[in-house]
Amino acid sequence: MKKIVVEGSHPLYGQLHVSGAKNSVLPLIAATLLADGVSTIDESPWLSDVDTMCRVLDHLGAKTNYQSARLSIDTATLNNNDPPSELVRNMRASFLIMGPLLARFGRIRISLPGGCAIGARPIDLHLKGFEAMGADIVLDQGYIEASAKRLHGAQIYLNFPSVGATENLIMAATLADGLTTIHNAAHEPEIIDLSNLLGVMGANIKGAGTNTIRIEGVGALAPATHTVIPDRIEAGSFMVMAAATGGELILNNVVPEHLRSLTVKLAEAGAQIEHSLDALHILGGASVLPVDIKTLPYPGFPTDMQAQMMALLTKASGSGTVTETVFENRFMHATELQKMGADIRINGNTAIINGVTKLHPAQVEATDLRAGAAMIIAAMMAEGVTEIGNIHHIERGYEDICGKLRSVGAKIDIIDV
Ligand code: EPZ
Repeated sequence: MKKIVVEGSHPLYGQLHVSGAKNSVLPLIAATLLADGVSTIDESPWLSDVDTMCRVLDHLGAKTNYQSARLSIDTATLNNNDPPSELVRNMRASFLIMGPLLARFGRIRISLPGGCAIGARPIDLHLKGFEAMGADIVLDQGYIEASAKRLHGAQIYLNFPSVGATENLIMAATLADGLTTIHNAAHEPEIIDLSNLLGVMGANIKGAGTNTIRIEGVGALAPATHTVIPDRIEAGSFMVMAAATGGELILNNVVPEHLRSLTVKLAEAGAQIEHSLDALHILGGASVLPVDIKTLPYPGFPTDMQAQMMALLTKASGSGTVTETVFENRFMHATELQKMGADIRINGNTAIINGVTKLHPAQVEATDLRAGAAMIIAAMMAEGVTEIGNIHHIERGYEDICGKLRSVGAKIDIIDV
């Protein structure tokens, strides 16, 4: 079994190149199913989630190939629309192929995506939107059978600005007959990135990045080439590591606007941050000041940065709070942090973190992807050597994280135990 081992108390100094965004490349891969031919996605990260998504498309008959950050996908050989249930169940984002396959082929049989550590992860908003566009949906023993002669435009109101539902419904609407309007749509940068690719493929989309998105269906889409946006959560995780170790990092390949809410909070916590057009410079403070965080849909503070901030606050010079409003069970990392001596009290969806003067090493686990990053942050702040298990979670969303962190002075490695 693999573990990540970190020797704490080494400030990070140097430059890092931020990889392409995991939460953008996954819907982009799904979007290539909407056209026949070879699409390419540049600056694509190589992550286990990307590998899983490519295996789903290969199973459908497409041909995927990854070579030095360029992902090419040939969909001319698609020959079935029955995605492999074990892959769909263990990677929720593979559910994003439902919109494209329903729009192109009018039928799909797909396993219900699994929930995961952070919540039940329902898909009711996706299904309600497809039904509004004329799809006939049947749930049958853990599978969804969906069919539609041709999807038609619809007025869709999301009662939560779900990122995945917005993405799935935009993709389905690009080939529907008529106008689809999605109200209370998600604003995340990944939605804009997806809409940019779809626009180059020939889709007619207006309002991406606002809470009302209009998609006028077209007859067909064509394959395209696109460069994925930088990963704002990887960049944010590195920023927190600089603040946690009192180090200094320059991050290349960032969109500063995507990091606005985190930048404000880290400055409040004592870090100094400046940015240029596509780079960011962060200088960690001599100590971490306590702050209060509340996660919200974009442009609010991202839920995917909540665990990392909780880890940072464990050594703040006072008491801070973290309130999670997006997922119902995203505090699993608190227990792991407590094993290292953190003083954390959970009260409903709010965690109260009283900063301690030191964290001690322990055998801890990554309970989900971002919790894994949080454990690396805590281990960097601890005195001694911490071992982190269940690192497959971390490998889902951070490309070569040990290699990158070692290049800026971290004492971190993967060992086989
Ligand atoms: C995306 O997940 C991201 N994943 C998540 O990142 C991220 O945390 C999340 O958006 C929120 O920003 C990818 O993009 C691959 P949602 P998604 O639908 O689309 C509820 C990471 O660590 N909901 O916006 O699944 C849901 O239960 C991952 O990189 C419904 O109730 O998130 C949750 O409480 C974790 N019904 C809330 O909405 C639905 O039909 C937000 O979920 C759909 C969602």
